[in-house]
Amino acid sequence: MDYRNFVLQGDICYSKTAHSLVTAEHSFLVCTEGKSGGVFSRFSHIPRPYRQFPCIDYTGKLIIPGLVDLHMHAPQFTFRSLGMDLELLEWLETRAFPEEAKYEDRNYALQAYGALVATLQEGPNTRICLFGTVHVPATLLLMDLLEHSGLVCMVGKVNMDRNSPDTLREQDAARSAAATQAWLEQCGTYRNCTPILTPRFIPSCTDELLRRLSTLQRRYGLPLQSHLSENLREIAWVRELCPESSCYGDAYARFDLFGGDVPTVMAHCVYSGNEEIALMQRRGVYVAHCPQSNMNLASGIAPARRYLEAGLSMGLGSDVAGGVHTSIFRAMSDGIGVSKLRRCMGAGDEAPLTLEEVFYLGTRGGGAFFGQVGSFEAGYELDALVMEDPRPVPPFPLSLRERLERIVGCSDERSILMKYVRGLPVPAAGFKAHEGPRGKIRSRPLP
Ligand code: GUN
Ligand code: FE
Repeated sequence: MDYRNFVLQGDICYSKTAHSLVTAEHSFLVCTEGKSGGVFSRFSHIPRPYRQFPCIDYTGKLIIPGLVDLHMHAPQFTFRSLGMDLELLEWLETRAFPEEAKYEDRNYALQAYGALVATLQEGPNTRICLFGTVHVPATLLLMDLLEHSGLVCMVGKVNMDRNSPDTLREQDAARSAAATQAWLEQCGTYRNCTPILTPRFIPSCTDELLRRLSTLQRRYGLPLQSHLSENLREIAWVRELCPESSCYGDAYARFDLFGGDVPTVMAHCVYSGNEEIALMQRRGVYVAHCPQSNMNLASGIAPARRYLEAGLSMGLGSDVAGGVHTSIFRAMSDGIGVSKLRRCMGAGDEAPLTLEEVFYLGTRGGGAFFGQVGSFEAGYELDALVMEDPRPVPPFPLSLRERLERIVGCSDERSILMKYVRGLPVPAAGFKAHEGPRGKIRSRPLP
């Protein structure tokens, strides 16, 4: 059987825009060569060539796009939930940096990253942008594991040559850049897991390092991920470190490391002001909105409504281990929750986010960073989750939108019956290719 050509039958939801959610009950989603061929309400509406494809019957189940995590730290998975009584800078010093230093040991990395990747395979995210550590062998190992996981990821070897402990800091800008180049030369053969340039944040990177990374970025045409305007003490520190920069974003832009020709994603943006927002708009920089981390580290509440209205490109991030939960369903729920708190704490004119908006951010909004990803419109890469309604199901009838709302709010891995990435089933415990226990194949579907 050709696994990349098939039809899924079930109750289908996907975003068209941030405000428009398509809910199509008893419908058909065509996958052709790993891409969506469109969603059709009747078998007879499916274009003729696709009608020969095997149809997998998921009647009564929800079929939604795979979720996109635009920001997580792979080495921090080990200490989720620890140190949640701290703010960012103390938490970095006492929790994140000491843990990340352990990844110099490849065996430690193998154990820790093995557990992370197994967890990610079982969860609802299909595309993820991850920070590794400064260590090249451990980062390559992480990429190896992810390459074979069935997920599609961007992974960064982290750069940091100042303001961090000796056990983690790279010795100088030249050595950090040389290690980055060595890493890039060793990860050229991956298909599903590709490199992304990863200066940690301005306080960790000297001007000389940023200059060298900018040269590498141009040479290799790399996307970039980093942190921006997350915490008030951090922002004051950046002002001290870069008195010539007009805003935090400008401290990257001065080295041509702030969008433009290459995809760039900045995590948090809790305190971005008018100038920074305008710079992000002009240079097409993505915001990774990480509501759970912003709560846990008492960073604040990002003005996501403002960013949506300004037309910024935006998705959601778990920011594990600032965030505890890898699932982007949790980021969707928290995104609504914190937007309501923001409103009642003074941003009275900012309407809270809706289900439609957070579902969009966690699928199509973040998916755009990976290309045509995160929707079922024809031509989109087919990443899909087949989901069961979380139990117990309420004893009253639910609309498809309400069933989706329950999935966002209270599903867990047990609700995920199948997961497809680029039309291929993700191998993981409990999932079996199309012959799986719950999806029934009808090779000649009945109209
Ligand atoms: N800023 C710099 N490094 C980090 C990190 O590891 N996590 C978070 N949340 N913010 C950061
Ligand atoms: Fe982060």
